Amino acid sequence: MQIQGKTALITGGASGLGNATARVLVEAGANVVLLDLPSADGDERAAELGDVALSTPADVTDPQQVTDAIALATERFGSLDIAVNCAGIAPAQKTVGRAGPHDLDVFARTVQVNLVGTFNVVRLAAAQMASQEPDGDERGVIVNTASIAAFDGQMGQAAYAASKAGIVGLTLPVARDLARELIRVVTIAPGTFDTPMLAGLPQEARDALAADIPHPHRLGEPGEYGLLVRQIVENPYLNGEVIRLDGALRMKAR
Ligand SMILES: NC(=O)c1ccc[n+]([C@@H]2O[C@H](COP(=O)([O-])OP(=O)(O)OC[C@H]3O[C@@H](n4cnc5c(N)ncnc54)[C@H](O)[C@@H]3O)[C@@H](O)[C@H]2O)c1
Repeated sequence: MQIQGKTALITGGASGLGNATARVLVEAGANVVLLDLPSADGDERAAELGDVALSTPADVTDPQQVTDAIALATERFGSLDIAVNCAGIAPAQKTVGRAGPHDLDVFARTVQVNLVGTFNVVRLAAAQMASQEPDGDERGVIVNTASIAAFDGQMGQAAYAASKAGIVGLTLPVARDLARELIRVVTIAPGTFDTPMLAGLPQEARDALAADIPHPHRLGEPGEYGLLVRQIVENPYLNGEVIRLDGALRMKAR
């Protein structure tokens, strides 16, 4: 799909990988709608991007709020062609820790935000895309964000890894479901990226995270994630696949 003039909804768009994606897509000529929590800096991030961006505070798990955000996007820019799911949370807790068994609410909340929230956006964005005229033989592209934790989850990552494995699992069936509507669905499984999540760590901890990454021997840059989103949108034959973006990192148990 050609990006010029298209509209992209980006969840988690006020921070990290989502915000980097917004920048890459704007550079490629897209309008972007940054969907993030009211507590995030959505308005400031959208203002930095100019008239081609708008911010809409919403929770990805809330059907009405996401419906309203999509309506706002199409009202302002005329269509919704690309949806990128970057909203997510990453709590860490062991199955049985010093304080006892894993908090079940933390497990459920992680699955609710990362997996149910992603599917909520997928289903509502796809319904909007399906109602639009195709551009050639494409109506839309949806990109989800899993994690390499879906495959090599570490100690303390039961909830996070399970939520991300769910995203990996839905990728092919959703791509199959939406084939008739001419909508492609691709999931990126990032390794370790230098986002605000990691920025607060001391240099020693950041070096330790980078130490196991074979090549390039460093943390991923958010723009490199945004670049893959761009490449996915532009390549019409890429569909129903999960792509690791990790510099060949395979995470150890801890
Ligand atoms: N940074 C990494 O190394 C890394 C690695 C693998 C996967 N990921 C995944 O990439 C995605 C983006 O991560 P990031 O590093 O940019 O993190 P981040 O914390 O910088 O950004 C996540 C954004 O999601 C928003 N968000 C959280 N819950 C939300 C909700 N319920 N509704 C709407 N917005 C919500 C937050 O406000 C935040 O702006 C996440 O899904 C994360 O799990 C990140």
